[in-house]
Amino acid sequence: MKKQDVVNKLLPKNSSIQKKIVSAYAPTNIALCKYWGKRNTELNLPFNSSISISLGNKGATTKISLIDEKEDQIVLNEKELVKTNSFAKKIIEFIDLFRADQKINFCIETNINIPVAAGLASSACGFAALVKALNELMNWNLDKQELSILARLGSGSASRSLWDGFVEWQRGEQADGMDSYAFLLAEQWPELRIGLLILSDQEKNISSRDAMQQTVTTSSFYSCWLEKVNKDLKEIKHALAKHDFNLFGEIAESNALAMHATMQTTLPAINYCMPETMAAMQKIWRLRQAGLDLYFTQDAGPNLKLLFLKKDNAIVQKQFPDMEILAPFV
Ligand code: PMV
Repeated sequence: MKKQDVVNKLLPKNSSIQKKIVSAYAPTNIALCKYWGKRNTELNLPFNSSISISLGNKGATTKISLIDEKEDQIVLNEKELVKTNSFAKKIIEFIDLFRADQKINFCIETNINIPVAAGLASSACGFAALVKALNELMNWNLDKQELSILARLGSGSASRSLWDGFVEWQRGEQADGMDSYAFLLAEQWPELRIGLLILSDQEKNISSRDAMQQTVTTSSFYSCWLEKVNKDLKEIKHALAKHDFNLFGEIAESNALAMHATMQTTLPAINYCMPETMAAMQKIWRLRQAGLDLYFTQDAGPNLKLLFLKKDNAIVQKQFPDMEILAPFV
């Protein structure tokens, strides 16, 4: 099955362009139980379900306009990208799925207010905003579940960026992936705080797409990862339901560490940490030993996202003075 077959199944027949310019916003999301590894690389179907938290006003705004030019224009944070740029290539390949036979070209302007490609899920919010904008431009009237499936075809984690709050992406069982979409979890946690500890905004040297595939094909620890993430998913839901912060933080942190440990067992080994990353982890562990309820998670990049509660805001800010702190439920 190809991406185009999934798109044809989902889109209403005879949908056509209704507007000339549309714009949409989607928040980025941080996984607390990570997605790492695909059972189908064409459709971005995961081996495991995952749970994330969306970051409110940190995300992507995407504007699409119809243009009278020979090719598409892809603009990221006000700079026009050359067609060989990896972000531009991914966007063009994605919108090709929706052009049908019409000879139309678009200008797609994406503004992302987080560092791009530094493991802060910029492709997640980018593709989610893009499918929301396309839904409006083409008047598809698709619901969020259907948009989540479309966003997944762009980037797996984008399937979770259609909602604010805690979101679960269920892996699904079907070969066409029609049951592999995300949905909103009922739990809210107004006291939860997330610190974005940016240690580097340099592009990573291996994409999450390639890194996860290398893990699936070469790590003999991959089955251990799957066992662990399935257990973590159950337990983190329990922690969320009870608002048990220490259990929540412990699971999120240990899930991230297990994902990175699994990556180190691939051939060749993958390591997204910089010395600054390790130093920050050690500082967090020291603070925790001294009694502070502070945990972290890490994605495919050197930066950390700190997890803590409102009651500790002042002390965490003092320890990490330059860090931006977000309150996802406020
Ligand atoms: O959706 P991708 O291909 O950018 O992969 C995301 C991978 C992680 O961010 C590391 C984990 C996750 O669940 O978001």
